Amino acid sequence: MMRRPIIAGNWKMHNTSAQGVALVTELGELTIDAQDVDIVVCPTFTTLGTVANALAGTNIHLGAQNMHWEKKGAFTGEITAEMLKDVCCEYVLVGHSERRQYFAETDDTVNKKVKAALAANLVPIMCVGESLEEREAGTTENLVGKQVRLGLEGLSAEQTGTVVIAYEPIWAIGTGRTATADQANEVCAFIRRTVAELFGPETADKTRIQYGGSVKADNIAELMDKSDIDGALVGGAALDAVGFSKIVKF
Ligand code: PGA
Repeated sequence: MMRRPIIAGNWKMHNTSAQGVALVTELGELTIDAQDVDIVVCPTFTTLGTVANALAGTNIHLGAQNMHWEKKGAFTGEITAEMLKDVCCEYVLVGHSERRQYFAETDDTVNKKVKAALAANLVPIMCVGESLEEREAGTTENLVGKQVRLGLEGLSAEQTGTVVIAYEPIWAIGTGRTATADQANEVCAFIRRTVAELFGPETADKTRIQYGGSVKADNIAELMDKSDIDGALVGGAALDAVGFSKIVKF
């Protein structure tokens, strides 16, 4: 099965509205001929609406970096899936390691968010990945397997096939230290086997799995060449239109 590649840019806490519009305007022009890949940008909450308008006529889709699982209520500072839909989001990052590390997100909250996103017709990009200590202790598969299992708990096979899973080893995020293509593929293949055990081989075949962590124009081709890597979640290198366009056109 040919899975459609998906390259997503996670802007993290960068860019004002004007900066975001300038970035996607340039990116939109540079990627207008990129038809065989899903391109996603994930700006900050406050810039989503303005950036959404600037995406008209481009191939670029909009995603958010986080959401709450409840539909409404007294949750100061939080945003619902419906609010993201309201500003034309189609995707949402869930459980990024920075959210898990600094904002105490757990596999349980990740699971709630994945379910709420799907219920609202948003595609969740569910992030998983181990720390350096976990890798060195040889517990990568244990940990990532658990994150995948608990994150997808209670989903149907059909729903799971629409989720994007991003494998992001924490030690490779923003460090310039990319996992080798083989290391990345090994864990992505393990994730696919886990999905197959849980939901069957057909679903595993459909599910798109990204690699993330210091992805750049000069390492994307090697990563995308691997059997189980279907795309990339890009942080730092997504802030530059020219560099990100080269990643999109791997
Ligand atoms: P990076 O970030 O590309 O800057 O390493 C990736 C991510 O955190 O999604």
